[in-house]
Amino acid sequence: MKELFRVDDRVILITGASRGIGFAMAEALAEYGAHVILNARDENALREKVRALTERNLKATYQVFDVNDFEAGKNALRRIVGEFGHLYGLINNAGIQFRSPILDFSNEDFELVLRTNLTSCFSLSREAIRLMKNNGGGRIINTVSMLGPQARPTVPAYISAKEGLRALTRALAVEVGADGILVNAIAPGYIATELNTALLEDQEFSEWVISKTPLARWGQSHELGGGAVFLMSDAGSFVSGQVLSIDGGMSIQV
Ligand SMILES: NC(=O)c1ccc[n+]([C@@H]2O[C@H](COP(=O)([O-])OP(=O)(O)OC[C@H]3O[C@@H](n4cnc5c(N)ncnc54)[C@H](OP(=O)(O)O)[C@@H]3O)[C@@H](O)[C@H]2O)c1
Repeated sequence: MKELFRVDDRVILITGASRGIGFAMAEALAEYGAHVILNARDENALREKVRALTERNLKATYQVFDVNDFEAGKNALRRIVGEFGHLYGLINNAGIQFRSPILDFSNEDFELVLRTNLTSCFSLSREAIRLMKNNGGGRIINTVSMLGPQARPTVPAYISAKEGLRALTRALAVEVGADGILVNAIAPGYIATELNTALLEDQEFSEWVISKTPLARWGQSHELGGGAVFLMSDAGSFVSGQVLSIDGGMSIQV
């Protein structure tokens, strides 16, 4: 039987992969045979996570860079191709949140969230596409959010960036599809990660999440792994420009 979900020896860079959703996606991809390259800014955290994978005989290395340093991102991609000969996949997953009432929300904070959660994805994707074209194709996954099509107060920059990233997903999918490059997005619901520490500690908010989620609980990082494997594997070979919601059904509940 054809092993539709294998991603053997596909070289895949995952940004923001030292913890949370990014690490969970990297771990799942490595378990299905990929060589994963973990990115974040904290080298110690990356070293520790790569060790956890390689101790299980999974294939993993890391590249330290800040996604806001576009030149550093480009150089990391070049190093990857220099070392492995190709880049099959890119997951634009690094992201930050910033919460503030609108009247106190500065332009600088707005722009930092936009740069981290959207512009960096554009820049890294462009450089990855350059390399993927030379190699006959590839895959890009952008981590978006339920927020974008839906809104909540105090997070205007995050909502704007994630909605922009959905649009970028479609824009790239139509431009590079004929080159064999498939571009999709994954939209997590409320997942119990460090990004949501403040929300998890707020009992009232946490209970609101549970009441609004048809599966009646928060999601766990490892539940994002299957979607990433699907979209990086032959199982996803005719899927492009789509958003896969992994949110316990929250986005379809009124
Ligand atoms: N958790 C949720 O409920 C949820 C829901 C919807 C969407 N998302 C999205 O899912 C993605 C991952 O979220 P998460 O919850 O896993 O977050 P997290 O636990 O806070 O992890 C964020 C990761 O991104 C890295 N990172 C942050 N800024 C970076 C930068 N400038 N350059 C490189 N790496 C950077 C962090 O490592 P360093 O700090 O060491 O760089 C870390 O590895 C984000 O895009 C987020 O918006 C999350």
